Amino acid sequence: THRQLVDRFGRTATDLRLSVTDVCNLRCSYCLPATGVSWLPRQTILTGAELVRLASIGIRQLGVSKIRLTGGEPLTRPDLEQIINGIARAHPGIEIALTTNGIGLAERADDLARAGLTRVNISLDTVHEETFVTLTRRSGLDRVLAGVRASVAAGLGPVKINSVLLKGLNDHEMVDLLDYCLAEGTELRFIEQMPIGATRDWARENLISAADIRAMIEERYELKGLPGRGPAPAERWEVLDGGRVLGTVGIVASVTEPFCGACDRTRISADGQLRSCLFSQTETDLRTPLREGVSDEQLADLWAEAMYAKPRAHGSDAGGFGTHFIQPDRPMNA
Ligand code: GTP
Ligand code: 5AD
Ligand code: SF4
Repeated sequence: THRQLVDRFGRTATDLRLSVTDVCNLRCSYCLPATGVSWLPRQTILTGAELVRLASIGIRQLGVSKIRLTGGEPLTRPDLEQIINGIARAHPGIEIALTTNGIGLAERADDLARAGLTRVNISLDTVHEETFVTLTRRSGLDRVLAGVRASVAAGLGPVKINSVLLKGLNDHEMVDLLDYCLAEGTELRFIEQMPIGATRDWARENLISAADIRAMIEERYELKGLPGRGPAPAERWEVLDGGRVLGTVGIVASVTEPFCGACDRTRISADGQLRSCLFSQTETDLRTPLREGVSDEQLADLWAEAMYAKPRAHGSDAGGFGTHFIQPDRPMNA
């Protein structure tokens, strides 16, 4: 039987974000501490077959129409192509997207496309080597840039670049990043930093807001708003230089202009815990019943029930990250 993932507030989740690992090969300062990260116990991480089964239940029984594989860094899984192919073979035509930091992507873009991947979003916060090393505490900018090129060439587009701006770290070079993305034919999206890092050091006063970002871009280029945003988190603009259209840019204003009211996401952590919201305080364990051998129908019931209880918004009732906001225990990478 086919149902839908509806919640108390009338939203329908059709976009499944499936985290395939919490492990990462970078240490972005807004996400992970520089040293001493403790990863989830290996045996709790869903196997390829388990991931494919959950995706299939979502698609077949619950109205999921788009899968996004996230992490951690999904490319740290050697079986990523197999997972993608498992989903693609069972559900021809389904959109399967990947969010990656781009390390190792150049070498695998063709295989990923062949396996059935349709689109890729790449996280890149700077195009300057020195800043890259400071921000991610690793080297590898060249590899990420090669990954961007390879993804475009492999037809994994429209390729989007996700970028978080941090005060004093990479905010002053944001136009360089924009110029790079425009030249590569990719869509840059600036993301307001959210209180979700394992480092737990988010502070409202350090936020580079959507308004700040627009002002910085408009010092150099003209912006013309694009309609038709729908449930997408990014608001988008055309970038113009003396009337000539150079490309598009987006801003994900999760903090200053929350889009919870239009949210269409359901998410599963790398260790098989269903989260109705990125900021949920509660999770529903799907891994244990899955491994105990329950039916697809029973898993779908658990999933639908948990989604029905999805909170109205993150943080306080007002939707922002106000005084009542409590950061969930689970960090972004997991
Ligand atoms: P598209 O399908 O290309 O639109 O991708 P996406 O924006 O849905 O996914 P991506 O993984 O590229 O995420 C980009 C940014 O959107 C993330 O860094 C988050 O800041 C934000 N984001 C994604 N999902 C959520 C969510 O459920 N809630 C909130 N508040 N922000 C989210
Ligand atoms: N706030 C906003 N975006 C974040 N990302 C990781 N941590 C945060 C945060 N605290 C971004 C990554 C990646 C996307 C999936 O989420 O840069 O592009
Ligand atoms: Fe890794 Fe992404 Fe976190 Fe950076 S933001 S440390 S690439 S999981």
